[in-house]
Amino acid sequence: MSNNFNTHSKVNNLTLCTDAEQASIYAANQIAELIREHQKQGKPAVLGLATGKTPTTVYKELIRLHQNESLSFHNVVSFNLDEYYPIGPKDLQSYTYFMRHYLFNHIDCKPQNIHIPHADCSPDRIEHYCKDYEDKIASFGGLDLQLLGIGRNGHIGFNEPGSSFDSTTRLVDLHSLTRKDAEKNFGTIENVPHQAISVGIHTIIQAKRILLLALGKEKSEIISKALNGEISTEVPASLLQTIPQVEYILDRDAAAFIDR
Ligand code: GLP
Repeated sequence: MSNNFNTHSKVNNLTLCTDAEQASIYAANQIAELIREHQKQGKPAVLGLATGKTPTTVYKELIRLHQNESLSFHNVVSFNLDEYYPIGPKDLQSYTYFMRHYLFNHIDCKPQNIHIPHADCSPDRIEHYCKDYEDKIASFGGLDLQLLGIGRNGHIGFNEPGSSFDSTTRLVDLHSLTRKDAEKNFGTIENVPHQAISVGIHTIIQAKRILLLALGKEKSEIISKALNGEISTEVPASLLQTIPQVEYILDRDAAAFIDR
């Protein structure tokens, strides 16, 4: 493994970047290449998308590529990982609002191709809704690429510690650390929903390619556990160690404790 933090000192499936911006641009380029490749082949590019602070610069770069380098999203079909429950799609804290604000309002993705778990379905419809979400992903032949961040407790999507390898889209209870981390967006801890709809770990690992992006020193401890630690449902991202199609993209700060 390289000790140099060159822009992309890629070793096996680990790509180390000097800073968050370079890591994000690298991830955006991987996504853009896939979209263009599928366009050439006349195929849709089925993307699994993430929210949180981590992917915002990825989306910024994708918007730049759209505006300045003629990247079109006309063949993109997207499925977001998760959404708080309950929450209205127009609420500023909702991931629906987030995705519009940081990406979809600025690109030419067809609205009918955008899928974000709906928070407005009533509790009795959730199970059916989740099954339908899975079926829709499958109807497009599965995800071509899943973009992931990582929570400080190792969650991917909202698959909290204890989530099993074979979990699919479902209603989940949010971990106390996840709710605490969300407090800054909701104002007070009481305002943070206790539940969310999340695609499952099984759904994620079925993706043909997975990019896990971890940025900043606050992710350094958990990313080292996820990459080098024991594989355990207590650190959901550690389950990805068994998946060959994962690429970890880290900036220097996030990689501080990686065993090199
Ligand atoms: C939320 C999302 C995750 C995301 C995580 C990390 O919990 N559901 O998909 O990876 O936050 O967020 P951030 O990138 O802001 O650290």
